[in-house]
Amino acid sequence: MAKDFNVDQEALGKAYDGRLMRRLLKYLKPYRKYVVLAILLHLFTASLGPLRPYLTKIAVDDHIATKDYGGLAEIVALIFGALFLQAIIQYVLMYLTQWIGQKTILDLRKEIFAHVQRLAASFFDKTPVGRLVTRTTNDVEALNQMFGAGVVTAFSDVFIVGWILAFMFYTDVELSFVTLAALPLLVYGTFVFKKKAREAYRDVRLHLARLNAYMQEHVAGAAIVQLFGKERREAKRYANINADHRQANYDSILYHAVFFPFVELVSALALALIVWHGGGLAKNDVLTLGVLFAFIQYVEMFFRPIRDLAEKYNIMQTAMASSERVFKLLDDETVVRNPERSAAIERARGEVEFQHVSLSYLKDGKHALRDFSLKIAPGETVALVGHTGAGKSTVINVLLRFYDHDEGRIFIDGTDAAALDERELRRHIGVAPQDVSLFQGTIRSNITMNNPDISEERMIEAAKATGAHEFIERLPNGYDETVAERGATLSVGQKQLISFARALAHDPEIIALDEATSSVDAETEGKAQAAVEKLLEGRTSIVVAHRLSTIQSADRIVVMHKGRVREIGSHQELLAQKGIYHRLYRLQYKDQAIDAS
Ligand SMILES: Nc1ncnc2c1ncn2[C@@H]1O[C@H](COP(=O)(O)OP(=O)(O)OP(=O)(O)O)[C@@H](O)[C@H]1O
Ligand SMILES: [Mg+2]
Repeated sequence: MAKDFNVDQEALGKAYDGRLMRRLLKYLKPYRKYVVLAILLHLFTASLGPLRPYLTKIAVDDHIATKDYGGLAEIVALIFGALFLQAIIQYVLMYLTQWIGQKTILDLRKEIFAHVQRLAASFFDKTPVGRLVTRTTNDVEALNQMFGAGVVTAFSDVFIVGWILAFMFYTDVELSFVTLAALPLLVYGTFVFKKKAREAYRDVRLHLARLNAYMQEHVAGAAIVQLFGKERREAKRYANINADHRQANYDSILYHAVFFPFVELVSALALALIVWHGGGLAKNDVLTLGVLFAFIQYVEMFFRPIRDLAEKYNIMQTAMASSERVFKLLDDETVVRNPERSAAIERARGEVEFQHVSLSYLKDGKHALRDFSLKIAPGETVALVGHTGAGKSTVINVLLRFYDHDEGRIFIDGTDAAALDERELRRHIGVAPQDVSLFQGTIRSNITMNNPDISEERMIEAAKATGAHEFIERLPNGYDETVAERGATLSVGQKQLISFARALAHDPEIIALDEATSSVDAETEGKAQAAVEKLLEGRTSIVVAHRLSTIQSADRIVVMHKGRVREIGSHQELLAQKGIYHRLYRLQYKDQAIDAS
């Protein structure tokens, strides 16, 4: 894990990368008009700022010194007007940039989600969920900051500095140089701060990630922690991680606490220089008081954008690193191989044939499926049995093309499955997988998967047929009962029944069923059995069977071992062979046989 963090979080590189920037700017394209407007407004307010000190100078020299109070009132009104205009534009600008930022990241987030949804199963084997969540939250947020604050204002900050310089030099060259005398100190301080702050920030992120990971893991596994009486120990470890996190935050805050007063100090220094040097000049009538007043204001205006630039540098840097990671995810093309043009099957008879199919998940030569051949007639029920890890679930994985097999072919009604688009293929095959996935929503939405083609009657019919209806009816809100995250409020058996109902409601011609390994009590067993029978009726079915009743009611039993088919036959035939099935039966199923009697 620690290594992952290094790759993931610590890579803070350049603050500007042309390639990434060009790609990022594409997201601004739909809002082009607003971006241009924002930049124009920004430049406009930026140019209003330096006008004020200049007006002050005129007020002092031309009106106060000459006691022309009528003229002074005019200038004051002008200054006030400029301020007022600036305030209004600032408001519009803030709104506009935030709006642009939110719009763009919404687009980006949608794109990431849609992309991740279409990635193949093998992608999720190698990518931790937490990392994907980080992409759509932290990383996208970093980009929001850039879109919202960074891009637009960074350009104009540079502009402001230049503009103030122009005004300063126009007003008085000598004093301008005096102001600039403090600049090297500021640049050096900013540089040091930037480096330190970046390291500290990186540390904070690193420790935060550890904190989150630890929290997530231990909330999910709270029962196990309690079971083994490790609460105090785990709490202590959590406290340690917290302490590291706090320390990192202290460091980060320390740099800020030093930097901002430092900037104040430098600008005070510049101010002191101006007052001291300018005061001397004014005394000798070389300089007017108005110019002195103007410069006192310029100094403050001048240092603010420079300080902001340091902040924006950090924003840009974070954004570049984030965009690199986001684009890497978006460019991941671990998708299912689909034909250019899909063949189509209107209504399948349901013949399924595997011909010499092999698969190695990690392409490391370790085969989960090896030369697997099996022909299943329309309407036939085949039970797959075998030790754990024999490759039973893998058969279903390749049939549904969750994983592309390496060798061999699979035919549906004589059509090569590779000629079918994954959607077309999956339209004909219903699955009830080993681990049931339920989604937040209602029982209804979990059965229909929000498919508008499934009517209320069809849904209830499916639930009745699979025995789910009974318990759903007893829920306070029936089919509208809310399903919690991952279906946490339902029992394993109930979840499985919903999963069966889901498969049946979609009325597929072929059913692939991967029974949960967990054993259930005799009554539920009986119900589940009835549900399974109903589900398989009149359909071609491949059932990874763990329950003896399912196995015995199958037309044929296929015994798998180390990814190969080793025995085929009926329950009696296989027992008589005294092979793997016989051994499995003695070890695993015999008890069930006794239970059932
Ligand atoms: N996503 C995966 N990535 C890598 N290896 C995998 C993956 N899924 C399964 N395997 C490996 O492939 C082999 C077959 O696994 P499979 O899930 O098909 O077993 P199974 O027969 O369904 O077992 P069980 O009865 O426990 O469900 C196992 O050795 C397993 O470790
Ligand atoms: Mg399995």
